[in-house]
Amino acid sequence: MEWITLKTFSTESKIYVGDDALASRLPVLTAGQKNFVVTDENVYALYSDFFKEYFQGAEICVIQAGEEYKNFQSLYRILEKMTGAGLHRTSKLFAVGGGVIGDIGGLAAALYMRGISCVQIPTTLLSQVDSSVGGKTAVDVSGVKNVVGAFYQPCEVLVAPTFLKTLPNRELKCGVGEIVKYAALSGKIFDLLEKGIGRLNDLEFLTSLIVACIEHKARVVERDEKEANERRSLNVGHTTGHALELARGWSHGESVLFGMLLETEAAIAAGVCEEAYGNRLVRIVREALRMTPITEADFSSVENDLKAAKSDKKNTGDGKIQMAVAKDKNEWTMWALPFAEYCDAIRNAAKKIVRE
Ligand SMILES: NC(=O)c1ccc[n+]([C@@H]2O[C@H](COP(=O)([O-])OP(=O)(O)OC[C@H]3O[C@@H](n4cnc5c(N)ncnc54)[C@H](O)[C@@H]3O)[C@@H](O)[C@H]2O)c1
Ligand SMILES: [Zn+2]
Repeated sequence: MEWITLKTFSTESKIYVGDDALASRLPVLTAGQKNFVVTDENVYALYSDFFKEYFQGAEICVIQAGEEYKNFQSLYRILEKMTGAGLHRTSKLFAVGGGVIGDIGGLAAALYMRGISCVQIPTTLLSQVDSSVGGKTAVDVSGVKNVVGAFYQPCEVLVAPTFLKTLPNRELKCGVGEIVKYAALSGKIFDLLEKGIGRLNDLEFLTSLIVACIEHKARVVERDEKEANERRSLNVGHTTGHALELARGWSHGESVLFGMLLETEAAIAAGVCEEAYGNRLVRIVREALRMTPITEADFSSVENDLKAAKSDKKNTGDGKIQMAVAKDKNEWTMWALPFAEYCDAIRNAAKKIVRE
């Protein structure tokens, strides 16, 4: 088991990575107070023995699986159950599941009695490399993602890669999208991934990537917890990615990978990203994607597909589209373009990708 410490202004969290993290930390963490577990129906069904072993006597709240349940109704249900279970200030909430459970469970912990301890136990690759670390919690409202939430750091995060054995391939790809994002920001992760790109189904290799990604995120969050500066870098590929996710209904991971591919090509063409490095990054993204190539027709209505980028949270109100893009190894920048120029840049990038 390895561990990483994340210190912010007011808190210190420990993030343990390794399958033994569960057996070594859970008996300690669950002893001596009332415990409350939030999970989803899939995780609960797959891991009933795990819940029996570690959460005897705890109140377990199972919510329906999927982003459409990351809403106020589910949050209200969780808070009602917490109240009904008579939790105190000293009680602990354990969020066991993917990013949806981590986000909504973390928010419930932040709200109940103005904040009780929260332990994150992420079970998807995306939540292990990204969402369980850093304290962003949220629900969606009226279809707007993560619009209501709080920054609330968990006291501990237990990352057990063994959970990934039951994860469907599509969900694995979502996590790979975030790992490639980290590779665009960290030379160390870039080298690891470039060398091992054929081993993305190998749990040992994934574990080394998980540790490296968490280390990177922890350092970024320590320097900029509230996303005023450097934390914005963690949105590489996400401006175009989110727009495509909404317009095309692709998975988040696939959308982010496509977003990175398009934004990196556009940044190379504009001289924002160093060419030799950018081409290596593009190769990694393409390898990670390994999916149906995009066609010219896919981008015939690019303005329409990209219009969601106009309401991206990173935009500053001057009408420009803001993108976090890789500049060179270990270097990134915010790149802003008026919407029409942004569409042209992405369209030209798509044409180049289709030609190759
Ligand atoms: N807080 C943050 O910093 C942050 C960062 C990135 C994403 N997010 C959020 O994370 C969410 C996406 O997370 P996600 O991709 O984990 O989605 P998810 O929580 O919906 O999980 C995906 C699916 O996998 C299932 N699942 C979970 N663990 C499993 C396992 N071990 N085996 C088999 N199936 C399993 C779930 O039931 C679900 O059907 C989004 O809501 C996004 O906004 C938050
Ligand atoms: Zn993402």
